[in-house]
Amino acid sequence: MTQDWKQPRSTDHGTATHGSLAASLVVVLGICVSVAWPTRAVASQALAQKYACVACHQPTAKAVGPSWKDIGARYGEGKGTAAQLAASIKAGSSGKWGAMPMPAQAQIPDADLQSLAQWALDGAK
Ligand code: HEC
Repeated sequence: MTQDWKQPRSTDHGTATHGSLAASLVVVLGICVSVAWPTRAVASQALAQKYACVACHQPTAKAVGPSWKDIGARYGEGKGTAAQLAASIKAGSSGKWGAMPMPAQAQIPDADLQSLAQWALDGAK
């Protein structure tokens, strides 16, 4: 009598727990992917203009600062990380490329910095 209702209940419970755990993992992964990818490709060129990076950085020719292409060549393909580069843009940089320092860009939100850094790592493509 007691066993009749106890057994199916505990089985149901186990299945439900597994199902919802798997479902939440899928949701978490989905959020990570959608935050990391679409923003940067679309927005980065526009961000570089919005924050006037283009006043000092050209696609392929050295201007006041190094070209996006040179930055990509130096840090891309695993030689540097976007987080590293984002920090360098935010705090400013000096002595790595030449005599001219880059002023700190502290006004830029971290998400935008991250997009710009990843974009620069990819050679601004
Ligand atoms: C006033 C001119 C100027 C502006 C504006 C400017 N940069 Fe720079 N940037 C430089 C110079 C000069 C350097 C080289 C600094 C050095 O030698 O360390 C540099 C270096 C960099 C580097 C390489 C940093 C490193 O650690 O090697 C990145 C990436 C970069 N800039 C991105 C940006 C982005 C993105 C923006 C816009 C948010 C921006 N810059 C705005 C002048 C500028």
